[in-house]
Amino acid sequence: MMHADYQRRAYLQAMGIDVWLPRESVDPEPAADVQSADAMGWGELRDCVAACTRCDLSQTRTNTVFGVGNPNADWLIVGEAPGAEEDRRGEPFVGRAGKLLDEMLRAIGQSRDSVFIANILKCRPPNNRDPKPSESAECRPYLERQIALVQPKIILAVGRIAAQSLLGSDEPVGRMRGRQHDLHGIPLVVTYHPAYLLRSPSQKSKSWSDLCLATRLAAESAA
Ligand code: URA
Repeated sequence: MMHADYQRRAYLQAMGIDVWLPRESVDPEPAADVQSADAMGWGELRDCVAACTRCDLSQTRTNTVFGVGNPNADWLIVGEAPGAEEDRRGEPFVGRAGKLLDEMLRAIGQSRDSVFIANILKCRPPNNRDPKPSESAECRPYLERQIALVQPKIILAVGRIAAQSLLGSDEPVGRMRGRQHDLHGIPLVVTYHPAYLLRSPSQKSKSWSDLCLATRLAAESAA
């Protein structure tokens, strides 16, 4: 891929080895998003996401949705992808599901400002379809860098897409929720997506017990 090839050349150049290429094989200047996100700080990462053209969603988005909240949060909330309202405003979880997420956070003594909220995808899939695996893969380095920068005590994956994508699993949410998982040594709890809870309010009590589990694990991992 262009990324790997560019990186190999960058390494060779850094080692002082001249790389001679036929004129026609020289790539145009790499877009900012082609560079590795691994070493980026918040500002550079935000700019990189805003300029990203790694997948076709860049052609249909209005705004990228980077994420919001406390950059040193104990809690990282990971959702699926921006919807129409989020795409318009450039902020995650601002629709009806977002209001319920705010209430869930309030119930555990947290808020939109105390946690960090991000999504698997930074751009809205047209008609709110599920993210394609290729889109999630292209977007993953941004989320990985956000996880590394926030260094949360607990990750809360809300909904099937977030849970399956983060954990590389195809289990249904009903089987993943209610227990502790692990991502890079950080405890991770799966719960229902607030949009699902709006449709199925009888499941809210299960989500509450997931939040209680996550609260306990966050306290343990802070100790
Ligand atoms: N649903 C999500 O998963 N994320 C958002 O940002 C909004 C709705």
